[in-house]
Amino acid sequence: MTRVTRLIEPVRTAPLATRNRRAGRRIAWTFVLLTALAVVAFSAVPYFTASLSDLAGDDVGLASTYAETSVFVQGALYVHIVGGAIALVGGALQFWRGLRDRVPRVHRWVGRIYLVAVGIGGIAGLVIAPSSPAGYVGFFGFGALAVLWLVTGWRAYRAIRRRDVPSHQAWMIRNYALTYAGVTLRLWLPLLLLAPLLLGQPWEFDSAFANAYAAVPFLCWLPNLVFAEWLIRRRGLPSYRLPVTRVS
Ligand code: HEM
Repeated sequence: MTRVTRLIEPVRTAPLATRNRRAGRRIAWTFVLLTALAVVAFSAVPYFTASLSDLAGDDVGLASTYAETSVFVQGALYVHIVGGAIALVGGALQFWRGLRDRVPRVHRWVGRIYLVAVGIGGIAGLVIAPSSPAGYVGFFGFGALAVLWLVTGWRAYRAIRRRDVPSHQAWMIRNYALTYAGVTLRLWLPLLLLAPLLLGQPWEFDSAFANAYAAVPFLCWLPNLVFAEWLIRRRGLPSYRLPVTRVS
């Protein structure tokens, strides 16, 4: 490499790397938005097409579980689905840089609606968690998710009230990673359901479903949170660090 090419090399590669990073972000964001819309269309909307008992007869989602519960829990399920659906789609829009930069007023309003949706969706999630067909695992897994959803949403709100934008972004990344559990749960479930078939093991729907559903209350959000922390560090935002203990 000549002295001249060595000098101009960084100038030529930097914009390409930036362009690639931007293209990668755009593809990732489009994937998140489309999967969010698909979950709303195929998992949330069906609950508003008929009564829970009719849906239970057609084996839609968890309708058969909730058709047996009290009116209070059923009401919480509907509130939860509406809150979750608004948060899933509204939250994806919040990560669209064009919207943030060009119309910040819309970003602020969608942000308020998003946090209210997280608030009511999280509280309703806590109400329905004890009825989960996954028993204690469902209660603790979904319950912990609901608590963390509420806490990270609150921290994101407090940070922006203090005008601490980097902390607000970090808490929003964590919070939306938890919201996105609504999608990852529905990606893990068919994978775990079909895994015994791929491993050549005997397969029967009810036991395969019970087995898969015992894993998702934690699996749907723990990896998301680890990924969020990695993303926060990569972007240079305030991240969690394990304290270093010095031994003297
Ligand atoms: C991130 C925090 C969330 C928590 C804590 C949570 C909690 C729960 C719980 C406890 C259930 C009942 C599950 C069971 O009985 O085993 C449930 C069901 C449901 N949730 Fe969520 N959820 C969250 C996010 C979302 C999101 C973002 C959506 C978006 C659409 C959503 C939509 C639904 C739907 C449609 C059901 C009914 C079950 C089904 O048919 O799949 N949830 N959720």
